[in-house]
Amino acid sequence: MAIRLGDVAPDFTVNTTQGEISFHNWLGESWGILFSHPADYTPVCTTELGTVAKLKDEFEKRNVKPIAISVDPLEDHKEWVKDINETQNTNVNFPIIADPDKKVAVLYDMIHPNASEKATVRSVFVIGPDKKVKLTLTYPASTGRNFDELLRVIDSLQLTAYHSVATPANWQDGDDCVIVPSVSNEEIPAKFPKGHTVIKPYLRMTPQPNK
Ligand code: BEZ
Repeated sequence: MAIRLGDVAPDFTVNTTQGEISFHNWLGESWGILFSHPADYTPVCTTELGTVAKLKDEFEKRNVKPIAISVDPLEDHKEWVKDINETQNTNVNFPIIADPDKKVAVLYDMIHPNASEKATVRSVFVIGPDKKVKLTLTYPASTGRNFDELLRVIDSLQLTAYHSVATPANWQDGDDCVIVPSVSNEEIPAKFPKGHTVIKPYLRMTPQPNK
């Protein structure tokens, strides 16, 4: 069955390019981003993994651990990483799961047989420190993901988790935010000292709290 928002991310123990990992233990108190790619030695995937490596500081700043997965064996991952480092001018610094028996791919419904019988599609799961799934996303094999957009979503998720605000359409870091409906009007002045604007009773805006 598909994994839905709010579900506990299924736990697993696997071999990775950084040794054996038990997923929940490895996450610890961090947020996580688990993302699948169709296959090693493919062009789009090479650019994606290089991009994630270059965003190391951005993920660390947000307390997010990235982890990639495909159904290729560990030895292929290890050899391919050399190509990624060379061609993308980076250093892959996060684990890549080897899932040749498709254990994790099936657990997370990453194989969509009408797209490909054997390979994983481009799935993304953002997981919170409570181990619950906060975002799911599926891209086709031919479209590389926008990891800046994923950082933007993580910023939004963390604003909601830590500051009781949501983010409006096309929100960018620094823009005004929406006060979540569970905050009463009486609570607003203490919670949002930067001020707020009531556009409608259900649409209350405030400057981004953590800026
Ligand atoms: C890939 O690089 O993974 C890819 C590129 C085009 C079509 C399918 C996959």
